[in-house]
Amino acid sequence: MLELRKMNYEDVLEQWEYVTTLPANENGLTNNYEGVSFDEYKERVLPELMMHENPVNMPDWFVPETFYYLWDDGILIGEFRIRHRLTEALKTGAGHIGYSIKKEYRGNGYGTKGLAMTLELAKAIVPEEEIYLRVQKDNIPSFRAIIANGAYIAGEDEAHYLMRISKE
Ligand SMILES: CC(C)(COP(=O)(O)OP(=O)(O)OC[C@H]1O[C@@H](n2cnc3c(N)ncnc32)[C@H](O)[C@@H]1OP(=O)(O)O)[C@@H](O)C(=O)NCCC(=O)NCCS
Repeated sequence: MLELRKMNYEDVLEQWEYVTTLPANENGLTNNYEGVSFDEYKERVLPELMMHENPVNMPDWFVPETFYYLWDDGILIGEFRIRHRLTEALKTGAGHIGYSIKKEYRGNGYGTKGLAMTLELAKAIVPEEEIYLRVQKDNIPSFRAIIANGAYIAGEDEAHYLMRISKE
């Protein structure tokens, strides 16, 4: 059974394995924790990322962000993040949602289904009328997953499409 679980302390091992195997930058999705040790993840990284949902001592531009993991029958499949609202930078930048699927599980529909589940959560969180996502023009799997979830192309820059999905 597929489920989205909020980042938590019980799943520390699987979450650590996930962030340490994800590349530092893949199609614009950045990961600052590639290669971090288990102890450092548990003691520093995990508490910090969980704090991002209710930011403490963060700069003014920082928007609350919640991390979720997609699980299928006890196997961690991918990560989905929701930024709770837009700033001017996020509007033409990364938007509300960022996501990735473990390499060995890609191409099985998980990206599309996980995004659908994340959108349901995001619709209840974000105040804007539409959910914003940005995708690199050469990232065909992500583009298709976003389109399959009802998006339209609202704009573009040289390298990206700026996509939006109505909350209705
Ligand atoms: C983007 C990503 C999350 C997609 O996850 P996924 O589980 O492979 O996605 P799905 O299996 O649901 O496939 C989505 C679509 O891409 C297509 N697709 C999958 N792999 C493909 C490939 N290698 N080449 C072309 N199309 C591909 C699928 O057929 C599907 O399209 P369809 O529904 O029209 O048939 C995954 O590739 C990933 O983690 N990439 C790295 C991080 C990233 O790019 N994140 C998104 C930033 S915007």
